[in-house]
Amino acid sequence: MFEHEQVVIRSGRRSRLPVIVAVHSTALGPAAGGLRLWHYPDWRDGVTDALRLSAAMTAKFAVAGLPSGGGKTVVALPEGTVLDPERRRDVLQDVADTIESLGGTYSTGPDVGTGPEDMALIGTITSHVFCRPAHLGGSGDSSPHTAQGTLAALRAVSRRLYGTARLDGRRLAVVGLGRVGAGLARLLAAEGAALTVTDTDPDKRKIGDELGAVWCSPDEILAADVDIVVPAALGSCLTAHTVAQLRCRAVVGPANNQLATPDVADLLHRRGILWVPDYVASAGGVVHAVSTELHHLAPDEVRARVDAIEHTVTGLLDTAESRGRTPAQAATELARRRLRATAGPAGT
Ligand code: PHE
Repeated sequence: MFEHEQVVIRSGRRSRLPVIVAVHSTALGPAAGGLRLWHYPDWRDGVTDALRLSAAMTAKFAVAGLPSGGGKTVVALPEGTVLDPERRRDVLQDVADTIESLGGTYSTGPDVGTGPEDMALIGTITSHVFCRPAHLGGSGDSSPHTAQGTLAALRAVSRRLYGTARLDGRRLAVVGLGRVGAGLARLLAAEGAALTVTDTDPDKRKIGDELGAVWCSPDEILAADVDIVVPAALGSCLTAHTVAQLRCRAVVGPANNQLATPDVADLLHRRGILWVPDYVASAGGVVHAVSTELHHLAPDEVRARVDAIEHTVTGLLDTAESRGRTPAQAATELARRRLRATAGPAGT
């Protein structure tokens, strides 16, 4: 079933690259979601990614209790493409034109492959952009806040499984040391957690060494003997095959779209592994951006909203337990309920 409000696929005027903007829902408010600038075997794979990621943004905002809708932009780069600065600027301007043409229905932000400087450039063409650097009036890099929100989710899970929100001595495997993963690993190391880490980029090993973490190869880390696995890389890491290998008690991380297919949530549940939906654990970044830039909250109020992810997760685990559901089902039901409570698309 096609459930998106609109999907725009355009060949960029300057770059000639496919710019894909998927607006999943504006039922709760204007849509927001990051710009993913990434390689795909085929541009159609970029469309599939945009469709899934934008739907997850709708759920992310609904469960976080924020009046925003879900969207996402993907620029599908052919495999092996390296963008020089000029071409990168062309791509970003093409994205900005497309967003501007949507007239505020959707605002973008950073995601895999983009950051605050890119948002600054987009901001020269359209005002519908989050996370520009602070000196330009934006809320800056969202990744530390995504990491902070994931830490809050981890505390809720730790309390459920081990009776304490403290993570010192807990064994965690962080899969991916990008902007969010590395930040989260730092927070966890500062808490005294025992870390195992990996990244597909061997240069990231330095970060692991700095944190006193054990390095593990990307294809072995999911089977590591740890308490909690923390996916912080690209999506679809949880498949029937990888779930069978897990030795942990929980999987909680900031990566978007962790499940290869929705039924993998049931496989995790059947194995007695607690999975917190990615769109719940990863909400800290957007919660920070939207609360700061749209709702103009003070920094301590924004921080309280990010930390409230702990209560959200606790609530979902309670509901799941009392109704005999998986946390994934409890989260889907909460999102549906919040979306149903509204009349329809914003402005209608
Ligand atoms: N990458 C962020 C996410 O998936 C998207 C985002 C961050 C969008 C900040 C807007 C502002 O949640």
